Amino acid sequence: MDRRFFLKASAAGAAGLTASSLLSGCGMGGMGGVDLQPSLNSGLFSRPFFTPPELLGTVNAVTGRKVFDLTMQAGSQQFTGNGVTNTLGINGNYLAPTLRMVQGDSVDLNVTNQIGQTTTLHWHGMRVPSDMDGSPHQEILNNTTWNAAYSVIQKASTNWYHPHPHGTTASQVYAGLAGMLIVDDAETAALDLPKTYGTDDFPVIVQDRDMNADGTFVYSASHQEIMQGKKGLTMMVNGVIDPVLDVPAKEVRFRLLNGSNSRIYTFQWDGGRVFKQIATEQGLLASPVNLTSITMSPGERAEIVVDFSALQGQGVLFQDVSSGTSLFKANVVVNTIPATITPTTLTTIVPLTRTQAVRSRPFILSMGQGNVYINNKQMDLNRIDESFALNDIEILDIQNTSNMDHNFHIHGAFFQLLTRNGAAPSIFEAGLKDTVYLPANSRVEAIIKFTNYAANAAAPFMYHCHILEHEDAGMMGQLTVV
Ligand code: C2O
Ligand code: CU
Ligand code: CU
Repeated sequence: MDRRFFLKASAAGAAGLTASSLLSGCGMGGMGGVDLQPSLNSGLFSRPFFTPPELLGTVNAVTGRKVFDLTMQAGSQQFTGNGVTNTLGINGNYLAPTLRMVQGDSVDLNVTNQIGQTTTLHWHGMRVPSDMDGSPHQEILNNTTWNAAYSVIQKASTNWYHPHPHGTTASQVYAGLAGMLIVDDAETAALDLPKTYGTDDFPVIVQDRDMNADGTFVYSASHQEIMQGKKGLTMMVNGVIDPVLDVPAKEVRFRLLNGSNSRIYTFQWDGGRVFKQIATEQGLLASPVNLTSITMSPGERAEIVVDFSALQGQGVLFQDVSSGTSLFKANVVVNTIPATITPTTLTTIVPLTRTQAVRSRPFILSMGQGNVYINNKQMDLNRIDESFALNDIEILDIQNTSNMDHNFHIHGAFFQLLTRNGAAPSIFEAGLKDTVYLPANSRVEAIIKFTNYAANAAAPFMYHCHILEHEDAGMMGQLTVV
């Protein structure tokens, strides 16, 4: 085990946070503050890595549409040796199946809510009509089913799905409602990339949780934790603490998702091993970028490829530098499938340029008087904050004027970064994105074009900070495309 990483993680556990109960309506545990566990990441890696099952959908022979049946449900799960906790999951106790769609598909998603409270289900990163988006306006009452239908128009990309109900997103995601949604297309399928799900292509959903000594989840909604964002002391990958994964001695692709409520990670492989980033949120980069670490804020995705071909018999740790925690161990075993050689050219990205923009639209992220704001406003379901014209190219001038980190996510379209703090963005950020990190007192200019699905006032699109406690506290606004 990595001693430095283990010790640092344990020291972090000394922080005196108060525990209080989570999702009281759901009977989540949490006994009041004395028995909060320090980080349970031990550096021992004895639990098997969990790869969520794929859900491919069933093609309706008459309509040709792909049908997905999803049930949001209450359950329980044991994460430590100490006992079970109440959880929420989709088609299971915790987390959700990996939905798999192909560009060009017409899909029907039948979403049944059995969690005992109102929810919604949002397809984060999917470019869908605003009334199919699963935003706070498409409420699913308990014991009812919502039918979402849309066409998959975007390129291959790693997306995710999670609840988005007004004011209660954070607690529902924390309890376990989140899954990956992978879009495939012919262009990506033709590339010599690792693509065998569960063999050389793995989802990596990183989340942090706090637990009581009895193994129950702790979710505190103290004002301080709302302002700072909930940060759990124990990290999990796909719902498992300290998992170990056998990987073949070849190139392996990992689809990284920061699925945490508020924690920002800087991922690396131990020893600073070089890996290739091949995709941002909305698809492939033009060319792979060699990196030794990658910083990701909540909601961001990245696809990376690591070459294990010379490492058979070794264990390689995937780590978060920020917290000093090793997240999982990759045990390199003999390879039994064809080798891959990641191409040096992946796709063509047509850049939108500043001269094409008809306007620059400010989004000021701020904090004050114990509240969080965008453009000095708090979320109001009955107010449209911004109106975009279909097919106009615009600059989003996003400024974090506070001393705390935030990020910015927009529904319904993707963007490209023009500048970060006045300079050209890093090459690994130069892809198509839908969520961007804004460290304290920083500024990003992004360029965007809404090309599809004009909305009506009853179903606007959202933009918000993806620190879920901030989102719930009102750091969100609504836009229409007209
Ligand atoms: Cu991942 Cu508006 O959400
Ligand atoms: Cu979203
Ligand atoms: Cu924020």
